[in-house]
Amino acid sequence: MRVVVLTGAGVSAESGVPTFRDADGLWEGHRVEDVATPEAYDYQPSVVHRFYDARRAALSGVEPNPAHRALARLEDLLGDDFLLVTQNIDDLHERAGSARVVHMHGELLSALCRGCGQRMPWEGEMSGHPPCPRCGVSELRPDVVWFGEIPYDMDRILEALTEAELFVSIGTSGVVYPAAGFVHQARMHGARTLELNLEPSEGVSMFHESRQGPAGTLVPAWVEELLARLGGAFG
Ligand code: APR
Repeated sequence: MRVVVLTGAGVSAESGVPTFRDADGLWEGHRVEDVATPEAYDYQPSVVHRFYDARRAALSGVEPNPAHRALARLEDLLGDDFLLVTQNIDDLHERAGSARVVHMHGELLSALCRGCGQRMPWEGEMSGHPPCPRCGVSELRPDVVWFGEIPYDMDRILEALTEAELFVSIGTSGVVYPAAGFVHQARMHGARTLELNLEPSEGVSMFHESRQGPAGTLVPAWVEELLARLGGAFG
């Protein structure tokens, strides 16, 4: 069975990574438009660098939770029939063992050089304006997709949605496009659709089925259920 899973901030919430749209509407004390737009970076690069440097450093203090691990287990069994598309910029899916992961909004552990256009693994700070190891120009920015920019790997994602038999959206509020439209794409091409979220998302009415609760509980239960259903295929 071909399965596409979309994850958002809710899948990492129980690991201690804050979601974007908390009750106060702030992302760790910042308005999203003050740190996650190209305009914010042009206007105050040091504020933006400090913000992402802190997020990057915080990764070492968090661990994958049962939801990340259950998705890695599902990939183990489905192989190339599985694609995990995440809006998250943390590396918790990889640390849980997932390999077929598309980070459509980029990654904290990656830098993008505005001088030569290269993307490269990056673990340290960017606040000190370090030179690009490839071209030497001091124009490294966080390799994250800001509002107004085009998400990564859209061709690969749209192709997978076209072929999917099951599309599952986990821990996302369903307000940010194009990810919020994936359920529509998948349904148009015949997929069954399921939402797993703490509360009904903005797009809940688009899904065939919706379950509410914490991802750390809902996702392992759903994966068990799916594997039992596919049991014959795996012996
Ligand atoms: N389990 C499941 N869902 C949860 C949990 C949990 N433990 N905790 C929170 N949620 C749900 C919330 O109810 C909410 O619907 O996760 C969702 C998180 O929503 P957002 O904070 O809006 O995050 P996300 O949907 O990933 O944001 C999309 O917006 O700011 C941009 O680029 C950023 O990738 C991000 C995009």
